[in-house]
Amino acid sequence: MRKKIVAGNWKMNKTAHEAKALVAEIKAALGGFDAVECVLCPPFTDLWVAQDGIAGSPIGLGAQNVHWEKSGAFTGEISADMLKEKGVTYVIVGHSERRQYFGETDATVNRRARAALAAGLKPIVCVGELLAEREAGSTFTVIERQVRAGLEGLTGADWEKLVLAYEPVWAIGTGKTATSAQAQEVHAFIRKLLRELAGAAADGIRIQYGGSMKPDNARELMGQPDIDGGLIGGAALQAASFVAIVKAGA
Ligand code: PGA
Repeated sequence: MRKKIVAGNWKMNKTAHEAKALVAEIKAALGGFDAVECVLCPPFTDLWVAQDGIAGSPIGLGAQNVHWEKSGAFTGEISADMLKEKGVTYVIVGHSERRQYFGETDATVNRRARAALAAGLKPIVCVGELLAEREAGSTFTVIERQVRAGLEGLTGADWEKLVLAYEPVWAIGTGKTATSAQAQEVHAFIRKLLRELAGAAADGIRIQYGGSMKPDNARELMGQPDIDGGLIGGAALQAASFVAIVKAGA
C-alpha cells in the first residue's frame, strides 16, 4: 500500500511573515491528521519559520530546488546540506516552470535528483507535457523521455525515496484540470515504465498528480489506482483549500 502524499508548492509566494501565519493555520486545521502525508514546500527564505511552525506536527518540509554540488561558486543556487539543516526532507526537482523559464533540462533534473538522493533528501521529480505536445499526440513520448532521463542512474534504495509528480503543463495554474481518466492513463504509463526501471520497487513509488487540483476534484483524482497524491500550487496558498485536499486523500 502506498501512503498518499500531498505537497504544497508555494512557488514564489509568501514572505516569511505571511508564511508563519499560513503554517500555523494549516497545522491547526490538520490537527494530528496523518492518514495522508502532508508536505509544505515554501520559498527558501520561509524555511526557517516553517521549520519552527511545523514542530510537533506530522507535517513535513520540502524545498523547491537543490543544486548538485555540495558548495561553491553557484550564485543563486542552494545546497542539500543547507536545506537539511532547516529540516527539509523533500525537494521538488524539474518543475515545469524551472524547465520553461530557467533552462532546466532532463540532464540537470537528473543531476539534481541524484544529488538530493545522495544527500539523503527525497526528490519529487516533475514530468509533464505541453499543450502542443498533447495535441500532437506525443504525450507518452515526452513523458517517457523525461522519466528515463530524469531517473537515469538511480539504483537500490533510491527508488524507495523517490516521488514522481505528473503535471500536464496545460493544467498548471490554468484552472483546467486533467480528467481523472486522462491523469490515470499517464500515471499507469509511468508505473509501467517504473517497473522496467525499478522492478518490484515500482509498486511502492508514489506518483502525484499536479495541475489545478482543488478540493472539489481532489477526491476523484486521488481515487484513481495510480494517483498517489497531489502537488498543489494555487490551492496550497490558503489553509482551508489545502487542508481540504490533504484530507480528500484519506
Ligand atoms: P496549480 O500548480 O495547482 O496552481 O495548477 C501546480 C504546480 O505547479 O505544482
